[in-house]
Amino acid sequence: MTALSRRRFVTTAALASVAPALPAWAAPAPDGTGVDPIFGDDIVRLDYNESPYGPDAAAIKAMTSGVRQSGRYDYEQQVRLSQLFASQHDIPHDHVALYCGSRAALQCALASYAGPRSVVTAAPTYDSVASGAKTLQARVHEVPLTADHAHDVRGMLAVDRQAGVIYVCNPNNPTGTLTPHADITRLVADKPPGCLAIIDEAYIHFSDAPTCLALAVEREDVLVLRTFSKIYGMAGARLGVAIGNPALLARLEAFNGRNFIPLPTALGAIAALENPLLVTQRKATNAQVLADTVAALRKAGFPCTDAQANCFMVNLGRPVEPLRKALEQRGVRVGRVFEAWPDWLRVTVGTATQMQRFLSEFFALSPHASSLV
Ligand SMILES: Cc1ncc(COP(=O)(O)O)c(C=O)c1O
Repeated sequence: MTALSRRRFVTTAALASVAPALPAWAAPAPDGTGVDPIFGDDIVRLDYNESPYGPDAAAIKAMTSGVRQSGRYDYEQQVRLSQLFASQHDIPHDHVALYCGSRAALQCALASYAGPRSVVTAAPTYDSVASGAKTLQARVHEVPLTADHAHDVRGMLAVDRQAGVIYVCNPNNPTGTLTPHADITRLVADKPPGCLAIIDEAYIHFSDAPTCLALAVEREDVLVLRTFSKIYGMAGARLGVAIGNPALLARLEAFNGRNFIPLPTALGAIAALENPLLVTQRKATNAQVLADTVAALRKAGFPCTDAQANCFMVNLGRPVEPLRKALEQRGVRVGRVFEAWPDWLRVTVGTATQMQRFLSEFFALSPHASSLV
């Protein structure tokens, strides 16, 4: 057995052991052909941190009934959903606002607090923050992550004492890594006066990190963002949640124009929240597939981030773009280049079967990666 085929064997064996344990909702293509039922191809999409499982069965049923009722403006279901979210998270109902994607809430917050004042982010982090700030002509300060791949709170606090927004993504996209809760609390306590702290918890369900929801309830200048695009598998349904003080939410709403979310989305999200097993099952499956994938890469000598999310980064030791392109030609799409870490490739965690395919293509290309540079 060659080193490469041995490596593939180890990988396949580890990931195959996950596959039989997957519950029914996790089957990527019911006919077993590997053909994606939506796209009609067998491309492995590991590029946008989407869920490979989509909405769960109850959410699909509820969304389907919502489509039938879509002739009407139905704000009532949005209220039901925000009430359910508030009661499940033990926060007052008037501290919850729903948006067509958390990105919309993020942009409203930037529009409200940045522009003349700057935006402070980590580097690398979720790049829509910097791009959104730039559309508002706001200056962006990107502070490198620490050696542990956490937000450098001290550096972020020092970079601009007049900043309008400090953005923390926990777990961070693209690295999947965590920032200690004590550091976030310190950042909130010591940030410049009048500056908004945005704590983006898009990936929190995949991790063991404590939430910052209590900070958003206690203070007037902390906004926590959640999304249904990740663990709930509803990226295309567009649903984000902004949690903050009512006066803060009113400031954001001025940029949202009293828009509200689609009825099928509201009904689907209610069904998803009412499924007590969804988060725990998907979290466990994701953690297992992530651990097996990262173990195979590390065993082959590729450092990976200590991710607790549905994405991680692997260090190629050379610019990622040639390998990214070569993988795409082999039908495996992985994340774009993050300028701050040009040698690290972001990979979304798919199903065990998809990660087997990723690993076998990755290892097939990696021995020749230097010739691709
Ligand atoms: C950290 C982070 N926040 C927000 C979003 C956007 O979420 P939504 O689909 O709710 O707009 C993403 C999407 O990838 C993300 O990575």
